[in-house]
Amino acid sequence: MARIGVLTGGGDCPGLNAVIRAVVRKGLADGHTLFGYTYGWAGVLKAEGEELTAERTKGILPRGGTILGSSRTNPFKEGGPGVDGVRAGMAEHGVDVLVPIGGEDTLGVAARLAAEGVPVVGVPKTIDNDLKGTDYTFGFQTAVQIATDAVDRLHTTAESHNRVMVLEVMGRHAGFIAAHSGMAGGGDVILVPERPFDIEEVCGHIRRRHANGRTFSIVVVSEGATPREGTLSTTGTGQLDAFGHERLGGIAVVLEREIEERTGYETRMTILGHVQRGGTPTAFDRILATRFGVAAAEAVSAGESGRMVALRGTDIVRVPIAEALGDPKTLDDKFFADAEVFFG
Ligand code: F6P
Repeated sequence: MARIGVLTGGGDCPGLNAVIRAVVRKGLADGHTLFGYTYGWAGVLKAEGEELTAERTKGILPRGGTILGSSRTNPFKEGGPGVDGVRAGMAEHGVDVLVPIGGEDTLGVAARLAAEGVPVVGVPKTIDNDLKGTDYTFGFQTAVQIATDAVDRLHTTAESHNRVMVLEVMGRHAGFIAAHSGMAGGGDVILVPERPFDIEEVCGHIRRRHANGRTFSIVVVSEGATPREGTLSTTGTGQLDAFGHERLGGIAVVLEREIEERTGYETRMTILGHVQRGGTPTAFDRILATRFGVAAAEAVSAGESGRMVALRGTDIVRVPIAEALGDPKTLDDKFFADAEVFFG
């Protein structure tokens, strides 16, 4: 029987608590004990956390966020404690195997640890849905629902004022949230990181709508969308996290100004931000998270390491963690083409 160390790393995501609850319940049923590290890898390195029991995880299934807290701490950051620091944090609590729940960064650390001989079973997580190796990550569907609700709400105010509304949603490398919520909400233009945009084409779609008698338009844009080279200048925040990613946000500000100036139509922007990551998960995400948690505990019981649980079709499977790393998963061309049918 093993002592399992659970942690949640990276941006939080609706469904994390459902995973924790499921790992604990299935882990206990299989005869393991569980320790929860607080604030991701930071908790492992400081050996901080708490015992995870059935009592402690009661009632958390529908709760957003993570009872363990999260951080973007990277043990392998230049000059960081690396594998020795992680081993020390495990030894302090008698932990034999880690179950990190996280995105590309957290799982990247997990893969390195596994390569160094630390037993690890990963659980993929990101609202962006841009992890390879799994068809969907939990939290994504909840984010899409929240963004779709926002598009619906923007529609009625846009109609009332004859305005162009720009909605910026999350999506650092991939436009899954923008494309899905844009399609579900009937957005008139969708801009995603996979396809650098030309601002004149965007304005063309909007002008065409107006020429056809529509008096308002909705533009849904991923925070990671960029203009085609040389077409428009934008400035980033320049702030980097521990894994070297730039803090994004603000493309909607540029679009608001440019669309209004170029078309003459009154334009307003909304940045949805962390609203997308907060609150209770949808039923789909609760179920996916629960199945992932059960499968992770099963993988530990089977003595697996260096693998993560994943959704393939309707099945939960175990795949090498490395499958989730490297280039992010991006939007399918056909999906985007289907969304484009409704542009302009
Ligand atoms: O976890 C992914 C994500 O939500 C991205 O969509 C977004 O760019 C980033 O996290 C925001 O990170 P933070 O909450 O650290 O600002």
